[in-house]
Amino acid sequence: MPLLAVENLAIDVERDGQTHRLVHDASFSVERGETLAIVGESGSGKSLSALAVIGLLSEGLGIAGGSITFDGRDITKLDEQAHNALRGSEISMIFQEPMTSLNPVRSIGHQITEGMRLKLGLSRRAAKARAIDLLEEVGISDPAQRLKQYPHQLSGGMRQRVMIAIALACKPSLILADEPTTALDVTIQAQILSLTSRICRDHGVGLVLITHNLGIVARYAQNVAVMYGGRIVEQATAAELYRAPMHHYTRGLLSSVPRLDIPRNVPLSPIAGAPPDPLQVVPGCRFHPRCAAATERCGQEVPAPHHHGGHQVACWHPVIERPEHAMVQA
Ligand SMILES: Nc1ncnc2c1ncn2[C@@H]1O[C@H](COP(=O)(O)OP(=O)(O)O)[C@@H](O)[C@H]1O
Ligand SMILES: [Mg+2]
Repeated sequence: MPLLAVENLAIDVERDGQTHRLVHDASFSVERGETLAIVGESGSGKSLSALAVIGLLSEGLGIAGGSITFDGRDITKLDEQAHNALRGSEISMIFQEPMTSLNPVRSIGHQITEGMRLKLGLSRRAAKARAIDLLEEVGISDPAQRLKQYPHQLSGGMRQRVMIAIALACKPSLILADEPTTALDVTIQAQILSLTSRICRDHGVGLVLITHNLGIVARYAQNVAVMYGGRIVEQATAAELYRAPMHHYTRGLLSSVPRLDIPRNVPLSPIAGAPPDPLQVVPGCRFHPRCAAATERCGQEVPAPHHHGGHQVACWHPVIERPEHAMVQA
């Protein structure tokens, strides 16, 4: 049984007395020790999907269908108190901007040990010892000194490492990391992502890694789900998704990010157009207005996800490549 299994998740918002669907029919799962990347442009529904899992959807938003099974139990209908108990202990979340999730007037040590004392019931001394171990594990030198410092005394990369230590502090089995490195430069991003996925693997923690950068994530995830307009449009192992992307959106994302395995003289080509406004109704496939391969049917009928050669893809005209013609040789 997977650690986390999300099935047919639907998220709605109430606006001016009307209900709009922001996330449609999303299904994905994560095993212990595995990393699932959820990838898509801004506004595709990635954060909402994670917030639904951790029970932090804001006022006016709600789960309208589907199920979220964590460690064998359905957590879709947990009340506030039960969700609170899960959060920070069994499931933790790393948010995009560490400056806003770290408390500026509390020492690093306080912020790492707070949860451990509260949720694990550790003594002050035991919590401090664990905090030092954790800082060491996330690659922070001189951890005993660092515990006394405040967030503004650390670089962006260091703050993000502290966030990872906080996320790990109460020994969760699942970590949701929402664009954890967007504010950092690319080299630091790669270091932090590699560190996060390695630590999660070593501790048997499932990791959901949310990002808009399909280029950077592949090396750190076993599986990738690509979201567009509130739907998962393609899902496969990272290796398979890179070898032969089937959805035209995935192909567009891949050709618009720098990759290490494509010669530099191949120009990057961003996908023309912009993602749909989620409150606007788009008939058929939501990507069809931007898709070069779209036919009449694409503008009329929503393509249901179907299995194809190890991929799950929601497209009327998926690209089926024979191995020798794959976009990039594995
Ligand atoms: N409270 C809200 N009310 C209305 N629309 C919302 C609300 N929260 C998010 N949305 C919309 O839902 C869509 C998906 O949001 P989100 O999951 O944050 O996207 P992502 O994380 O992929 O960038 C966005 O277009 C966003 O504008
Ligand atoms: Mg987001």
